[in-house]
This record gives sequence, structure tokens and C-alpha cells, in this order.
Amino acid sequence: MLRTHTCGELTIINAGNKVTLCGWIQRSRDLGGMTFIDLRDRYGITQLAFNMDVNAALCEKARTLGREFVLKASGVVIERSSKNSKMPTGDIEILVEDFEILNKSKLPPFTIEDNTDGGEEQRMKYRYLDLRRNIIKKNLELRHKMAIETRIFLNSKNFIEIETPCLIKSTPEGARDFVVPSRINPGEFYALPQSPQTFKQLLMIAGYDRYYQIVRCFRDEDLRSDRQPEFTQIDCEMSFVTQEDVLNNFEGLAKHLFKNVRGIEAKEFPRISYDDAMKYYGTDKPDIRFEIKFHGLNDIVKGKGFKVFDEAQLIVGICASGCGEYSRKQLDELTDFVKRPQIGASGMVYVKYNNDGTFKSSVDKFFNEEELKKWARAFDAKPGDLILILAGATEKTLKALGELRLEMGNRLGLRDPEIFAPLWVVDFPLLEWDEETKRFYAKHHPFTSPKPEDILLLDTNPAAVRANAYDLVINGVEIGGGSIRIHSKDLQNKMLNILGFSNEEAQKQFGFLMNAFEYGAPPHGGIAFGFDRWCAVFGGSDSIRDYIAFPKNNSGRDVMIDSPASISQQQLDELSIIVKKLF
Ligand code: AMO
Repeated sequence: MLRTHTCGELTIINAGNKVTLCGWIQRSRDLGGMTFIDLRDRYGITQLAFNMDVNAALCEKARTLGREFVLKASGVVIERSSKNSKMPTGDIEILVEDFEILNKSKLPPFTIEDNTDGGEEQRMKYRYLDLRRNIIKKNLELRHKMAIETRIFLNSKNFIEIETPCLIKSTPEGARDFVVPSRINPGEFYALPQSPQTFKQLLMIAGYDRYYQIVRCFRDEDLRSDRQPEFTQIDCEMSFVTQEDVLNNFEGLAKHLFKNVRGIEAKEFPRISYDDAMKYYGTDKPDIRFEIKFHGLNDIVKGKGFKVFDEAQLIVGICASGCGEYSRKQLDELTDFVKRPQIGASGMVYVKYNNDGTFKSSVDKFFNEEELKKWARAFDAKPGDLILILAGATEKTLKALGELRLEMGNRLGLRDPEIFAPLWVVDFPLLEWDEETKRFYAKHHPFTSPKPEDILLLDTNPAAVRANAYDLVINGVEIGGGSIRIHSKDLQNKMLNILGFSNEEAQKQFGFLMNAFEYGAPPHGGIAFGFDRWCAVFGGSDSIRDYIAFPKNNSGRDVMIDSPASISQQQLDELSIIVKKLF
């Protein structure tokens, strides 16, 4: 080793020791008689001291060193005269006797500090410099710890980690596939897996009754702060289990991670049905760190001559405690918020429950004091509260109020990233009707099993069929989703028929799985967690990008290696690909 110690470990007990450190120059200060350099490595920062009186030549040389130079410095550990209690190594410094420049550095394009002056694009381009920042390093350490603890827990429960292939077959369900041309099979393509779903089911048929894999998945979909085109799942599957067994086992994993990564003893996770999640929170991933719930008002507000309510399918609202004194400006801001195209409401009705027990509302013309009192009772509102109401088509209105609820949560400081509120959402519908294409889509995926008691409804009312499917949600983020699977060929074929596949198409696309079902498929089910998302939530961040060493930007590009990129004509010829000229 070139070094005897790291830059994060020397303390006063090492005083007098001769040491050699290696690292990068974080900053240097020239105070005339003394020059100080902060030397940084993965483990911390140690101050190097150069004394003009002790070694003027060395001190002069130290003054020429620039930021991010790589240095090997040897000297004696001494007690500092002015200590820095904020640093683990803040009681000592190294009185340098000799140093060697291991490599020079150009001046970095942004400062390597927690509060860097670098913009997003610049930091992505020089990701290796961004990764030097403490803040990102901590995120990757958290990720590493999460992976270790996941493996410890699952191994202790007899799960076996098995790798599945990355070059597989494109299937028409789910998101778009990334495809890879095959040189030796001209005109044919592999697809990168969106998840190892069918492979883990085949492993169950093969008898590996508890499988997991921390695995890369690929989806060609629009990017958001919680979505990357390649991301990682903790993918799991179990045989001979009911939904209850799966939930209990993975609640165990979640509690293990809470305890061992975040030091939190989590209580039993609440469970809520999909229908209730939509009814009370307007979303299937409710943030239950705060109490605010929806109240429907159809029964008490219709028929009073207010057209917006009379013509609406749904009138629903929330009560924001202690916001009764919101100003005109604040209420206008909320109205503007719900009218944004992404939210899509046409307007917002408010009722202020004044401290003196009177009411002030935006619909005073249509509703008298007595009427508004009824509303307040419905919301369990107290003087000093604010009631916010949206009206319109059911689905759209629930969704919009869900966003408004989150906005109020933000404004009221109720979404503290250091507080965690996990829950299971269960009883998802099996299918989702799409008005545009006039067909059903699988809400989760086509391999999810209907609830046995709902199977008969598949023929009469497919939209009403509930699935044995569940999501783990933490702080309003969908951390994971899974289901009990279909394990009979006939039922799988029927499911595919409902999704618009003929028997022949079903056989062509999914024959490998359906045929395997005929060779003793055990009942099985599982779940996959978004590993990047879980890390980000535990790290208190909305963005998964900072928990991935080399992420893509919002256009799916890696601006550091400049990818995707065109390939040579020779490569295209080998792959039998003709590229359409775009310009
Ligand atoms: P699903 O599609 O719900 O289920 O994915 C599981 C979890 O993966 C995470 N996730 C993502 N994370 C980052 N970027 C993305 N683009 C992205 N897409 C999904 C989410 C999600 O909850 N095979 C099934 C699981 C199963 O049934 O066992 C599946 O992939 O956190």
C-alpha cells in the first residue's frame, strides 16, 4: 500500500505516529508562515501542515499545488492548536516531512463541495468529479448497505440468489422494450428485460422455491425523477404461499432494512384496499405521513342551484387544519395550482371556517351559513380550518385533489423526509380499461392471478375482478409491487384472451411459460422492489438519480460517455440494419 492510513481515521491517540496518507487536495490555505492543505479520500479529510520555519523549501513547493491534485504525503501526527470539533480528524494535523505528486489535476469545472456551484448538466458530464462529493458518496454508501442488508435478510430466510438472462425476447405487454439486434440471426432482435418476471416463475416451476436477485431492469419509457431507463429491482418469488405469506415475509424485509439501515423500529404496516386508497387519497400510493383525508360531498351540496356542483359526477374536498386565515393570495395560488394542465381541475371552491364560528366561502352566493355548517360537520372541521373542494368527473377529480392534498402537506410541513410511513395497498383491480384503444390492460401484468372468488366475473364483468396484487408504498412512493401468479395454462390463456391475444398469439408470445405450467407448476407469488427508489426514500430524496453511480439524464442520455450514439456503417451492415435518414 502506498499509504499507512486513510484520511478519515487519525485522532489524537495517533499523535507522534509517523504516517503516510494519499488523497486529493480539497483546498489549501497559505497563511505566510504556515500552509495548510485539506487532503481528502473516501474516508474523510485530514489537514496537512507545512511550516516555513521547519522546511521552507517543502512549504514553497506545497504552495504550488492545485485543487484535486493527487498527493502522497508523509509526516508526523501532531495535536492541532486550533481544533475543529466538526471533523472526526479535527484534533490533529500532519506536519508534513515529504510529499509526492501522484498526479496533477486540471481545475475542476465545479467545486467538489456539498453545496457545489456546478449545474446539473455539468455535473452529469463530469460525473466522476460529482461522485467525489461527500453528499453523493454517502448516497452510494447507503445503497451498498441496503444491498448487503437485503442479502443478509433474504439469505437468512432460505432465499437463493439466481441470475437470469439480459438478452431475452420482446413481448407486447408492459412498457416499451429496449432491443438488441442479433448479428448471427439477421433481422432478429433480443429485448432487454423489463423485469425477470417470467424467468422467476420458471424458477418456481423448476423447484427453487425461494428466489431473489438484485437485478438491472430496462424500460423504454418517459423519464421522471423516480424513473430511469435502466434501474435496479430487488426481485423475489416464493412457492407454496398465499398473499398473506408474501406480505408478512417482505414486511419482515422492510422492517429489517428500517432497523439496520435507518435505525428505526417499524411498527406493523397498515393495509388499505386500492378502492379506499383512491376514495380517501385519490391515488394508489398515498402519503400517510399526514392525516388529511377526502370527504365526498355529493349528498349534501347537489341541487342548490350551483351549476358546477349540480353537473359534477363527484364533489370532494379536504380540510386543512389551521389554514382558515389563508389570504386571498394564498387561495389564488392554490386555485392556480389545481388549474395547472398537469393537475387539470377547472377551479377550486374554498370555505374558511373563521375563528368566531362564521364562514367565508367562494360560493356564498349559493350556500348560506346553515349549509356551510353542514359541510363543516362532514369534514369534522373546527373554527380556524380551511375546506378546499373540487368537482368534476370522478377519476380526474380524485387525482387532482390527491395532488392538492400533497401540496397542502408540503405547505404545512407535514412531509418530513426523516419520518417514514409505510403501508400496503392491496386488492388492486386485475384489469384496466383504456378508452383510447378500447381494450383491457393488465393493471399489474398479465401473470397476476385474479382473486379466486372473482374468477367467475372474468366472463361477465372483467372490470370488477380484483387481483391478488399488492404494492408497498413509503411516503407516497411506490417502492414495490407484486402478486400471486396464475399457475394454470387455461387461466393464463383466458387472461391473455381478455387482453386481446388470440390463442395462437398467446401461444407464440408466452407459450414457453404456459407450456411449463403443464409440468407441475406450484402455486407461487412474489414481489419486486425498486431498489433505487427505496434508497432515495431512505436517503430523504425525491430523485433516484443521486443514488445511481452513472445515471441517465432526462432525455435518457449519458452525457459523460455521450450515449446513445450512432454506430459505423460496417456495424450496421453486420447487423443487417438499414437506418432511416432523419435529416
Ligand atoms: P413493477 O413494474 O411494479 O413490477 O416494478 C417493481 C418496482 O420497480 C420500480 N420501478 C422503477 N424504478 C425506477 N425506474 C423505473 N423506470 C421503474 N419502473 C419500476 C418501482 C416498482 O414498484 N415483475 C413485477 C414485479 C412482480 O410482480 O413481482 C414488476 O416488475 O418501485
